[in-house]
Amino acid sequence: METIKVSNLTRDYDDLRAVDHISFEVETGEVFGFLGPNGAGKTTTIKMLTGQLRPTSGAARVAGCDVVDERQQLKPQIGVVFEHQNIYERLSARDNLLFAARLYGVQKSRVEEMLKRVGLADRAREKAKNYSNGMKQRLLIARALLHEPRVIFLDEPTRGLDPNIARGIRAFIEELAQQGVTVFLTTHYMEEADHLSDRVAIVDQGRIVALDTPARLKVAHGDGEETTLEDVFVKLTGRNFAQQWGDE
Ligand SMILES: Nc1ncnc2c1ncn2[C@@H]1O[C@H](COP(=O)(O)OP(=O)(O)OP(=O)(O)O)[C@@H](O)[C@H]1O
Ligand SMILES: [Mg+2]
Repeated sequence: METIKVSNLTRDYDDLRAVDHISFEVETGEVFGFLGPNGAGKTTTIKMLTGQLRPTSGAARVAGCDVVDERQQLKPQIGVVFEHQNIYERLSARDNLLFAARLYGVQKSRVEEMLKRVGLADRAREKAKNYSNGMKQRLLIARALLHEPRVIFLDEPTRGLDPNIARGIRAFIEELAQQGVTVFLTTHYMEEADHLSDRVAIVDQGRIVALDTPARLKVAHGDGEETTLEDVFVKLTGRNFAQQWGDE
């Protein structure tokens, strides 16, 4: 069964078409990698799928809810991680989570469980503003998962993190998928996308230019056994880059 169903979703910012008639489905429990160059429309898509931004046209359903007309029902079913979004810097990690727990009607014991799960338990009393990048990112992940959502949207969850923390987050994503959580993931780390994703979509200038399993994409767009997902990405999206830089 599909948990995300997107039909001709489009978003304009004035005369810029950031997302251009994209359509796809994500199965329940699937890890779906959503890849593309800077400015391709990934974050804009996540904002529409999570009810934060109105599509210009087209439609999407997530966990059975229309992302425009049923935003309120949608909210408790999803978790979202954007970089450093809405952390209360003057509160401790624990208080940030307790605040969210109250909003969602989640038990306090779940806060302690999540602090332990992301490795923040021993520093949970410190103000979030003193946290490093990786600690803030782990706090955001803990908060996004506090209410045990069925679908989680992760916008570059391992960006700028050291290999240990990045690996911990990837292991956590795998664990979630095994539990049946549907994961919508953007990342610029192609090995990470290859390793984690059941399928990936590659978007370029607001359009999906390829969508399949990493293995099949490598066969379809590669030239031999050594082909990596990065090779496929560059082949499908790199021409624009060369043009842009060549023109300057
Ligand atoms: N609020 C906004 N107003 C105007 N244009 C915007 C706005 N947000 C995004 N855009 C533009 O829409 C396009 C898509 O942006 P988006 O942030 O969705 O890309 P992205 O794929 O997430 O890129 P990145 O990999 O750099 O995060 C870009 O050209 C961007 O400049
Ligand atoms: Mg983005």
